[in-house]
Amino acid sequence: MKLFSAAALALIAPVQAGLRFPCSTLTVQRLDPVVQPGAVPAAHVHHIVGGNAFNHTMTGDVGERATCTTCQMAEDFSNYWTAQLYFKSPTNGSYKRVPVVPVQPLLGGSNGATGGLTVYYTQFDLNRDNLNQQKITAFKPGFRMTVGSPTESNKPHVGLRYQCLSGTSRGAEQPDFPSKPCSGGIFTSHHFPSCWDGVNLDSPDHQSHMYNTIRSDGFTNAPACPASHPVRMPQVTYETTWDTRQFNSLWKSGDPNPFVWSFEGTLGYGTHADYMFGWKGDSLQRAMDKSECFYDGCGSIKKQAMSEANKCAVAKQVTEDVEGWLEKLPGMA
Ligand SMILES: *[C@@H]1O[C@H](CO)[C@@H](O)[C@H](O)[C@H]1NC(C)=O
Ligand SMILES: *[C@@H]1O[C@H](CO)[C@@H](O)[C@H](O)[C@H]1NC(C)=O
Repeated sequence: MKLFSAAALALIAPVQAGLRFPCSTLTVQRLDPVVQPGAVPAAHVHHIVGGNAFNHTMTGDVGERATCTTCQMAEDFSNYWTAQLYFKSPTNGSYKRVPVVPVQPLLGGSNGATGGLTVYYTQFDLNRDNLNQQKITAFKPGFRMTVGSPTESNKPHVGLRYQCLSGTSRGAEQPDFPSKPCSGGIFTSHHFPSCWDGVNLDSPDHQSHMYNTIRSDGFTNAPACPASHPVRMPQVTYETTWDTRQFNSLWKSGDPNPFVWSFEGTLGYGTHADYMFGWKGDSLQRAMDKSECFYDGCGSIKKQAMSEANKCAVAKQVTEDVEGWLEKLPGMA
């Protein structure tokens, strides 16, 4: 039955294969220290969560520099971001930012997160850690990567998916935007590749230092890493729930999808995500070395109350309205 996502099945199966935790929204602005370091503003608006070392340029050991994080795991000062989703009015062409709500309705509550996204670091697939077959090596300070591309206009990318939420159902995973209103919002997943070349913390395209062995969607069993990228890293995944409910009555039956990514992406294939590693010291490695750790912080990994996480903030560096109604998307002609 295609209706059950891997995540929904995980409610039934015992789960013990990695970290899963909420991170509240840190900021929504045009900054992108991975793809456009130094650019203030960057090309398009991002929805960003994580540590307060977030900046237009990020070098060195982020985990040592940051002093707070919007994530539940208190030693995780990484930053995680995607493009921001907007509604484009079919009647007058103006744009409004789609708010984000915590992901968790199917997975045990939001723990008090505000907006944000849910982050996973899985060791193998969602149900097994498989640590006796392969060691999972944590990312190093300075590591960064992206998945997907805003210029992709027609090719589905494995692991980048949309689901149409209604009631307690997430619906089938699909490579493009839903074609009709979703009463519970639009759910997006971004699975990153998990095989590293063992040398480079980044690469010119921010992707070729990593290799994706995943051949199907969801939290699926990852085949062995190739010789070119022999080091198995945690598989990082983001899940975001875009609360489209206030726009559903403006989407008339038969009209095309009115939601666009902040880079004017009307097709869903351009969805992408960025990762900037920032765990403090060896905390992520300690989590990944432990079997049967799922969601609970992996024993010695410190958690904080989301009420504490929600206090973490960064100043706006790009002072422009990103909330709408906007005649143009910020940065777009
Ligand atoms: C951001 O970077 C600038 C320039 O390097 C620096 O002056 C500033 O303190 C940084 N801000 C944060 C929040 O790290
Ligand atoms: C454009 O349309 C939306 C509804 O689709 C409305 O809320 C908004 O006020 C309109 N803006 C202008 C400038 O007419």
